[in-house]
Amino acid sequence: MSEVRLDGKTAIVTGAGNGLGRSHAHLLASLGANVVVNDLGCSVDGSGNSTSAAETVVAEIKEAGGNAVANTDSITDRAAVPNIIKTALDTFGGLHILVNNAGILRDKSLKKMTDAEWDAVIDTHLTGSYNVTKAAWPILREQNYGRIVITASGSGMFGNFGQTNYGAAKAGLIGFAKALAAEGAKNNVKTNILCPAAASRMTENLMPGQMLDKIKPEAVSPIVAYMCTEEISTSGAIFEAGAGNFSHANWARGKIYKTPNESGVATVDEIAAHFDEIIDMSDATVLDNPAAAMGAFMS
Ligand code: NAI
Repeated sequence: MSEVRLDGKTAIVTGAGNGLGRSHAHLLASLGANVVVNDLGCSVDGSGNSTSAAETVVAEIKEAGGNAVANTDSITDRAAVPNIIKTALDTFGGLHILVNNAGILRDKSLKKMTDAEWDAVIDTHLTGSYNVTKAAWPILREQNYGRIVITASGSGMFGNFGQTNYGAAKAGLIGFAKALAAEGAKNNVKTNILCPAAASRMTENLMPGQMLDKIKPEAVSPIVAYMCTEEISTSGAIFEAGAGNFSHANWARGKIYKTPNESGVATVDEIAAHFDEIIDMSDATVLDNPAAAMGAFMS
């Protein structure tokens, strides 16, 4: 049996009917957590719905000896989201962990993207994570205990062709999570960020078959489970995980060029003359909070 345990804790995992969410739900349950398996049962592009995805995973968890309950509300339906939280409270009597994982894709280059494709992706990832977190927040704050995982993506950190909607939503989630980390600090509510890579129905057309065989969702879930433990020391940290690799990613800043002008206002010619210096990242500094980021400019 694992030494790290989640006995007595109740977790909501959104989008837990497939892929990464299913794997996270299984692992959390195997560590002793009660799990609300939330899933709308939609297709990769967000269309349709079915109760079977969530119900199947609940049956699998119960079969393995764990505790789970299904919830099939959409994280984009603000009127229905409180029911996801209510399912945890009514079934298991509490809520301690929220893994925001549900997501969809509507990939198109900006030239071809419709407003509906933009809206659906922003609504699901960014606003959907906001909706569920906002509903869970008072409970976590008031009990002075909460662990939140926000699922971002390398697409939000670096940008992928055809994913302006998805990249914007995922980058937005990083800012959301880092602000939440600051807001939850006083009440022991820790929020960390996952940038995963795994084979799922979402990525099956984006990666070569051979690669998909090697990157199982199960290889990502251990760090998600660790983010949900009492002992996790970080909040607001970005973790990359895939194919058994785990790393901490962060923002970095290159050398600072400071104008010698008394007024503090550089000329455009000065920027042109010093541009190589400004873009030089060879001596970069890791930045992990707003005070450190702005402090160097203000000193
Ligand atoms: P998946 O398509 O296998 O699973 C996503 C699940 O979310 C589906 O079961 C779907 O029914 C559910 N869902 C979608 N909209 C929902 C809504 N409104 N309410 C409730 N449930 C909803 O996808 P996968 O790959 O497991 O992705 C999980 C998360 O990880 C997503 O946020 C995705 O953007 C992110 N991610 C995945 C990567 C990968 O390599 N698979 C890479 C980077 C990020």
